[in-house]
Amino acid sequence: MEEEKLSSVAKRFTASSIQKLSLIAQQCNAINLAEGFPDFPAPLTLKDAAISAINSDFNQYRHVQGICDELASIAKKTHGLDVNPLTDIAICCGQTEAFAAAVFSVINPGDEVIIFDPSFDTYANVVSIAGGVPVYVTLDPPQWTLDPNKLLKSFTHRTKALVLNSPHNPTGKVFSKDELDTIAGACCANDCLAITDEVYEYVTFGNAKHVSLATLPGMHSRAIITSSLSKTFSVTGWRVGWAIAPAYIASAMRNIHARIVDSAPAPFQEAALIALRSPPEYFESLRRDYEAKRDFIIKLLVDIGFQVQFEPQGSFFLFAELPKNCSLTDVDCVEELIKRAGVVAVPGCGFFRTNSSKDKRVEEDRSYQKRYIRFAFCKSDATLTSAAQKLNETNFEFLKMQ
Ligand SMILES: Cc1ncc(COP(=O)(O)O)c(C=O)c1O
Repeated sequence: MEEEKLSSVAKRFTASSIQKLSLIAQQCNAINLAEGFPDFPAPLTLKDAAISAINSDFNQYRHVQGICDELASIAKKTHGLDVNPLTDIAICCGQTEAFAAAVFSVINPGDEVIIFDPSFDTYANVVSIAGGVPVYVTLDPPQWTLDPNKLLKSFTHRTKALVLNSPHNPTGKVFSKDELDTIAGACCANDCLAITDEVYEYVTFGNAKHVSLATLPGMHSRAIITSSLSKTFSVTGWRVGWAIAPAYIASAMRNIHARIVDSAPAPFQEAALIALRSPPEYFESLRRDYEAKRDFIIKLLVDIGFQVQFEPQGSFFLFAELPKNCSLTDVDCVEELIKRAGVVAVPGCGFFRTNSSKDKRVEEDRSYQKRYIRFAFCKSDATLTSAAQKLNETNFEFLKMQ
């Protein structure tokens, strides 16, 4: 058996369910509202910058210090954080690699890492590759609120770090100032590091504001901020991301990064410099465009029978709920969406901790985990309109039964 040659870590993983769904979307020419990648062009200035970098032969291993200078200046301007561009930043291949490098820098086998539930599945996977133990803290539906008692109860002497993603995938939640204060207080009281995923930092709606956890009292010295170009500039394939962290952690991360990928793609690092210097109007129009797309998809899904009790405050995902009387699970419903309308979304169950979780600290009714479907609305107006046409033309009697 060839599989016998695989490591025990490799045997634990298969292609992610979102990748599988994207493949189905491609194979049956379905509209892909599953994967969180924009299907519209990246800003022209960025593309020109990347083309110009290639034409100027930026073809070799490279670390563009200018990105660190720019990130440090943004951190000062927007968050009031003092960041040393020479020591406190690691440029990586997307937030995904920055997150992995952060985990590999600070997590030893047996260390516990607090992760909110639901969450982006990369976190738990990477923590477990490092030998760490994910400990889940439920965000309570339908508003996905954080119960401070649940959080406080989840800390033990083995807790090493907490992961915070705000704006949040899959729910679109932006953690409130009170919730951030609770998280920061708990991290400080328990001498716990925080790894934040802020890839949707510029995509917030209405009154919701992104506040970086690192800016709260006591957190700058224990926070590892990770983010990237991917979502803000619609270039998920360019693979440029970064971490801002205390110097000793950033240094460890750079060392790990150098051993795994050496450096992020050189021409795209050059383009990143231009991206990070975008004027405020760019970010404002990004926010406005996504807010309009959010409103469009909410109306569309409510009209065909989904429940939307929680309107996304940020990110570009809508976590829609099946109506109470619908007997289908999230997985069944996604199959029906594909078969009947040619539209692909993601069953919500993939974002929740698995039922085989060994963590017995929190025993709760988790039946709601099979009742959500995640729709990505980071799509062109043409794609969203075609999806609307297909969904509106289809009979989803199972969503309407009273
Ligand atoms: C919450 C979150 N973090 C990170 C990523 C991936 O970011 P990157 O492309 O920078 O690796 C995604 C992509 O969907 C995401 O939703």
